[in-house]
Amino acid sequence: MNDAERAAALEAIAAEIRGCARCRLHAGRTQAVPGEGSPGTEVVLVGEGPGFNEDQQGRPFVGAAGALLEELLGTLGWRRADVFITNVVKCRPPGNRDPEADEIAACAPYLRRQLAVLDPALVVTLGRYSMATFLPGTRIGGVHGTVHPVDPASGARDALCLAMYHPAAALRATALRETLFADMAAVPPALQRSRERRAVHAGVEAATAEETATLAPPPAGDGEPPPPAEQMSLF
Ligand code: URA
Repeated sequence: MNDAERAAALEAIAAEIRGCARCRLHAGRTQAVPGEGSPGTEVVLVGEGPGFNEDQQGRPFVGAAGALLEELLGTLGWRRADVFITNVVKCRPPGNRDPEADEIAACAPYLRRQLAVLDPALVVTLGRYSMATFLPGTRIGGVHGTVHPVDPASGARDALCLAMYHPAAALRATALRETLFADMAAVPPALQRSRERRAVHAGVEAATAEETATLAPPPAGDGEPPPPAEQMSLF
């Protein structure tokens, strides 16, 4: 898929999200927030769910947490348009409460399809709910700043995942600010590691395809039936 095809596929998913009524969150939304960014990016950032400002504007991370996220990306020389930013749930939970399990489950196919289109090398989870989607059974206090393979069932077919605290957590507890900046500094090496892994996997796939082609039987040309199994020799 080229970038134009990816952009069109992402827009088709976004249009579905804007009309979605799969869970109770649709009833209270001003606008759904499908996500946005570069269709050709290698890096997808996944937050929790839209807050007040996001719900008003239909864009992810545009409030105070978004300003900190932009500052964090800036330390890498990146702008938000260089990555793709989305959330686990695409509609605002009322009063900014945590998303509930059935809401996350109802919204999961959208994230899965976005990831399948983007095929990122690196998924950065922002906060506990995003972390639980990609690294089930882990705790943010232990896993933040570390890198793990992503289950292809997530939609990201060959990616690594880096878990980070949610930027809003650092706005509430300033001691986490330094941790967030340190974890963001782990993004470029994680991306490089993932690129190398993907190159190895692509090489293995190409070699396997070549081997399969070599082993494929020649097409039957003269209509002769194949010999009975017991007469076939492997040597
Ligand atoms: N917090 C999130 O998790 N996502 C947003 O889009 C904004 C704030």
